[in-house]
Amino acid sequence: MSERILGIETSCDETGVAIYDSEQGLLAERLFSQIALHKVYGGVIPELASRDHVAKLLPLIDEVLNDANLCLSDLSAISFTEGPGLVGALMVGAATAKSLGLALSIPVMGIHHMEGHLLAPLLEDNPPNFPFVALLVSGGHTQLILAKALGEYELLGDTLDDAAGEAFDKTAKILSLSYPGGPEIAKLAQSGNPDRFVFPLPMINRPGCDFSFSGLKTFTATLVNSFEKLTEQDRADVAAGFEMAVAKTLSKKCERALKQTGCSQLVIAGGVSANLRLRDVLSVMVNKQQASLFYARPSLCTDNGAMIAFAGFLRRKMMSEKPLLAIQVKPRWPMNLLSHQT
Ligand code: KG4
Ligand code: ZN
Repeated sequence: MSERILGIETSCDETGVAIYDSEQGLLAERLFSQIALHKVYGGVIPELASRDHVAKLLPLIDEVLNDANLCLSDLSAISFTEGPGLVGALMVGAATAKSLGLALSIPVMGIHHMEGHLLAPLLEDNPPNFPFVALLVSGGHTQLILAKALGEYELLGDTLDDAAGEAFDKTAKILSLSYPGGPEIAKLAQSGNPDRFVFPLPMINRPGCDFSFSGLKTFTATLVNSFEKLTEQDRADVAAGFEMAVAKTLSKKCERALKQTGCSQLVIAGGVSANLRLRDVLSVMVNKQQASLFYARPSLCTDNGAMIAFAGFLRRKMMSEKPLLAIQVKPRWPMNLLSHQT
């Protein structure tokens, strides 16, 4: 009999819900983005995020059930994002998942948000096989991981300060672009010359796989302030130079991680993996290394419910059936502490 997992994502500013079927794959998915709500403040306001998840989550669950032509009693299990993320926002997903699970007498699983991102490219055709190197680049994380097997993740490198997405968001503010900054910078950079300004490539000559992005943001601020008046072309050239510097830095560290581990598969995931310049720079690098690059379609790079439903499906067999009634979340949760038996 096929199993159907309802996935719930509420860790930040998107309410994502999806149903994954063990035989047919993704049956339905819906996403409500709170970007318009937070845009006026230039970033996510946690209390507003939680309240909006409360308003949107149950209607979205009804919609995915409708889309898939199912009712609640057709579900076999529920997975939700247990962490890391904003505590109030996570609690909305946790409370809803646990209550539904209790009412329906089905297992409920807490999923690590970054594991959800890491597994999302496996939803595509021709997926990678374990082991592989994964570059996780989101608004809150920039990590290089050796994914040895499902649930067995070794941290190869981490950011010492800002995450890649955070650097995009902060640099966008310097260029008076709106939130979230990544897609805005990418759009502006299309008409820019990435070689006009010589951006530093942070940590590139330091051994190891760690990153640092705060210097790039400071460099951009100093560069922008050096102009008396910034033309549209100047802004585009700054955006393109910044984007290229991030892509080259990430690529260098990925190359090192591939060599160090002997892996020939590189998976990129998280919001910044939607960036086309990053994909281009990385595909040139992996070709030279005779390795392969894997990523998800753009809607599965940023936060979504499908990756949580899919992670729940993959982890389903590894989870104990015992119902845990306590509603708890893990706002901070290092991914290498995950195991294949939670
Ligand atoms: O994974 P995600 O949706 O949420 C977190 O878990 O943080 O990532 C959001 C981040 C934001 O910082 C956003 O600016 C960035 O991903 N982002 C991009 C692009 N699309 C989203 N950065 C660069 N280029 C993009 N096309
Ligand atoms: Zn995310």
